[in-house]
Amino acid sequence: MVHRGGRHAITDRSRRDGAFASSLRNSKVATRRVGSMSDRTQRPDTILVLDFGSQYTHLIARRVREQKVYSEVVAHDTTVEEIKSKATDMNVKGLVFSGGPSSVYSPDAPSCDMRILEMALPILGICYGHQLIAKRALGKVRPGKKNEYGITYVSVDRPVGILKGMSKTERVWMSHRDIVTELPEEYETLAHSDNCPVAAFQCKLRPIYGIQWHPEVAHTEKGTLTLRNFIFEVCKCTPNWMVEDCIEKAIREVKNTVGQARAIVALSGGVDSGVAAAIASKAIGRNLSAVLVDHGLMRDGEPEVVKSIFSKLEMNLIVLNEKERFLKKLRKIKDPEEKRRIIGREFMRSFERASKALKADYLIQGTIYPDRIESGFRKHSDKIKTHHNVGGLPHTLKFKTIVEPIRDLYKDEVRLIAQQIGLPKEVWLRQPFPGPGLAVRIAGEVTPEKLEILKRADRIVDEEVRKSGLSGKLWQYFPVLTDTRSTGVKGDARAYGYVAAIRAVESLDGMTASFARLPYELLETISSRMTNEIPEIARVVYDVTHKPPATIEWE
Ligand code: XMP
Repeated sequence: MVHRGGRHAITDRSRRDGAFASSLRNSKVATRRVGSMSDRTQRPDTILVLDFGSQYTHLIARRVREQKVYSEVVAHDTTVEEIKSKATDMNVKGLVFSGGPSSVYSPDAPSCDMRILEMALPILGICYGHQLIAKRALGKVRPGKKNEYGITYVSVDRPVGILKGMSKTERVWMSHRDIVTELPEEYETLAHSDNCPVAAFQCKLRPIYGIQWHPEVAHTEKGTLTLRNFIFEVCKCTPNWMVEDCIEKAIREVKNTVGQARAIVALSGGVDSGVAAAIASKAIGRNLSAVLVDHGLMRDGEPEVVKSIFSKLEMNLIVLNEKERFLKKLRKIKDPEEKRRIIGREFMRSFERASKALKADYLIQGTIYPDRIESGFRKHSDKIKTHHNVGGLPHTLKFKTIVEPIRDLYKDEVRLIAQQIGLPKEVWLRQPFPGPGLAVRIAGEVTPEKLEILKRADRIVDEEVRKSGLSGKLWQYFPVLTDTRSTGVKGDARAYGYVAAIRAVESLDGMTASFARLPYELLETISSRMTNEIPEIARVVYDVTHKPPATIEWE
């Protein structure tokens, strides 16, 4: 995130750990703000993103927000009246039609209120959005000769509007099958590629644009410039929003929902649940208890670290030792989604028991946007995996409500809020860790033996990556215990043991990721240590798959 120094702000000494407890006790949001939202503007300039189901829809909103312009994702069938009704809270200056997995010709293809095209608001259609606008304008959309996924080069025919400042050839990221082949007279082509005769267009009469590629994805080299052109040149937005504005909104939401009642917050020790806990603490103070479920699937020593950090917080901290129960429930379970669902269900049972004992009616969770996106909570989008804190929840819950105060934020936005709200550095710099823990890093059945092996391997990877000085540059780095065994030779004897894989990725938000090009020396050290120190591991491999097509976790 790049707001006011972005990650560099992490070095700000004024927010040191010592300030943590006291700043949480303050009722006003902590410091470094340049003024509350009302000082700056009541109604931030806003770009609304109409969601047609792409995995990247929310990246668009996030990229817009990086430019300090507020953005919100709305359903694709949002009406003109609904857009107009937003005028009390925000100044809508433009619309983006997202991509999506459908074909504009399929019978259940998502559409929009076409009166939106007459609203005189600037519109940018991306991928499916581009095709939808072209089809609606009576252009031609056809299946392409081949699917196009990944890096492509486009030729820019007219560097104007959203393509202002582009070179003749640009490296972009595409993911589509259909293509726009013809446009009506009032539209003109701005770019083409070998596969797409109309890779970008503009309407000559209105500020309406379309592009086949994805400017929101980091692999598109001038994606940010394309979005900036749309936001500032076409929509004429003023950058008058900051991520910190979300803190007050989130505190208000928790206060209004929970009122004078009691709530528990599900704490894992990661930055998401830490921020949710800090926000809830500010909202309802002593009526909040933090519950850490020790399911035995955390890293070695992790529950102790979390306890020591969060016991400084002004709230009741409860640690539940549930190791045996979780392991029992996971016995003989091999399917990754089944594992995720079981863990989600068991988590909820633990929280229900805790809430009964504490007489708490509300559960607060640190769910963030990518959790919800990948769990397929939106119309017309595919489920990638059941994030345990979203899709993994049982349908019958004994809570009045689950409150998710940071559900619309991305990880880097959450990290920034963690600094602003006064959480210690060790929380905001923590690697993301999946709710189902090491269970999704053990292929096949989770057994106590495999857990022990993986914890030891994890310690080695952690120690060596830290020693190499690369830990700060990586989004995540960890070992995976595969279900495959392999023959080796240790000393002069035959060895037959597990194949462990190392996964290390660079990412901005966890939505896309590149495998990290770790030095061979580092990989060699990790491999020798693992095979020497852990007798059950016979072989170590390195995962060189980006996301997509892989996900970051193996399961
Ligand atoms: P994937 O594997 O989907 O992971 O590429 C993206 C990011 O999300 C983390 N992750 C989870 N976080 N609950 C969470 O809170 C989950 O169930 C979960 N599954 C994956 C993962 O570690 C990565 O940072």
